[in-house]
Amino acid sequence: MKIIVVEDYNEMSKKAAEILIKKVQEKPNAVLGLATGSTPVGLYKELIEDNQKNGTSYKDIHTVNLDEYIGLPKEDKNSYYTFMRENLFNQLTIPEEHTNIPNGNNQDLLEECDRYEKIIDALGQVDLQILGIGSNGHIGFNEPGSSFTGQTHIIDLKESTRQANARFFESIDEVPKQAITMGIGTIMKSKEILLLASGTAKAEAIRGTIHGEVTEDLPASILQTHPNVTLIVDKEAYSLCE
Ligand code: F6R
Repeated sequence: MKIIVVEDYNEMSKKAAEILIKKVQEKPNAVLGLATGSTPVGLYKELIEDNQKNGTSYKDIHTVNLDEYIGLPKEDKNSYYTFMRENLFNQLTIPEEHTNIPNGNNQDLLEECDRYEKIIDALGQVDLQILGIGSNGHIGFNEPGSSFTGQTHIIDLKESTRQANARFFESIDEVPKQAITMGIGTIMKSKEILLLASGTAKAEAIRGTIHGEVTEDLPASILQTHPNVTLIVDKEAYSLCE
């Protein structure tokens, strides 16, 4: 596990962008695994800025997102479908059919999980998977207790996760109770993983990820066993590791 400690959120975003852009330059048809939430927003801004300045091309890139809420219409401002369009896809010329996000409105959600896992398989390995981390150590929406070998599945969101994400909604009651998420087994198949964390709220989870026991109680701890993981953490997120 390679650990890069940076000053703040801005530096974390720039460093992550450097790594991702290098990957796209080396492999213009790379498969990128993408995350939502506050953590990667700065990274996505950097990618857009670089694309405008330097013309890095994403036309042959394919993307797979980690997760999507169940039951929010695609057009809802809080769906991850809308998040990705607003924060990245609309600004990069990446063909819509190259982008993949689970459909949380499929009438048959089990079939949707199966469909999504097959899409990822068909793309071959994810070349670079971007991860954020929940303050309870979740990756994707794999909450504590999730199986380390799990594939794409339906998950009941923990109350703490719903509370953390309530900041985007009018009230906690509007935060969906379930999501579809890539499993930890799916995530671990990625060739390379880049986990980003910023702020003291993530410090405990980062300490466990780096120094803790590998346990399903802290899903991100499994990353200790992956051959190619980089953590980019700011000083606050790293503060309990020193
Ligand atoms: C989002 C995701 C989640 C978030 C995590 C942190 O696609 O998979 O694991 O990365 O909940 O969220 P933020 O970045 O909002 O603190």
